[in-house]
Amino acid sequence: MTAPAKKRVAVLISGRGSNMMALVDAANAPDFPAEIVLVLSNKADAAGLDFARAQGIATAVIEHKAFGKDRAAFDAAMQAALEAHGVEFVCLAGFMRLLTPGFCEHWAGRMINIHPALLPSFKGLDTHARALEAGVKVHGCTTHFVTPGMDEGPIILQAAVPVLDDDNEATLAARVLKEEHRIYPETLRLLAAGRLKIDGQRVKTA
Ligand code: GAR
Repeated sequence: MTAPAKKRVAVLISGRGSNMMALVDAANAPDFPAEIVLVLSNKADAAGLDFARAQGIATAVIEHKAFGKDRAAFDAAMQAALEAHGVEFVCLAGFMRLLTPGFCEHWAGRMINIHPALLPSFKGLDTHARALEAGVKVHGCTTHFVTPGMDEGPIILQAAVPVLDDDNEATLAARVLKEEHRIYPETLRLLAAGRLKIDGQRVKTA
């Protein structure tokens, strides 16, 4: 019997791209239900682009700066690139741009993000510094479906790590990042295999 076709996935990045690399590595396994067909960056100097090119993955650079304040035009340019590559699912991986409601609605249930905190705590930026400042004893990361509200979509997977007495932002970030690289590929695997069902704010795994 032939295996079902792998789902075509784009990963959107803005910088280092370590989560994108984790997704690419996982997708290289023959039995992974998705393949990364496009890495798209809003910054031409994103370090992750070099890795994608070296892997033979198509890349696209759509610089938000070129669109000024016109977020809809920027999103339309991204949409055109996604369609040109026959993309079925979108993974945001350190993609530091807010997306328009129209773009989010178009990709509803087919676009996911990873956030370096246990949502709904610490939405937004500087999550590790804010976790240390708040004195929490447990921190972590979250994968979720993307909705128009920032870091608000239904939660798919979370991983918790301890906050240790001698932690600083860098040590805590490194502990969380290790978990990001574990739960993001697992999330994409479940999504591409059709095993996630959204029920209000809850996501159930079949
Ligand atoms: C990751 O820690 C990711 O969770 C975070 O940016 C980093 C990107 O690193 N994303 C956000 O803060 C989104 N709100 P990477 O480029 O090495 O994957």
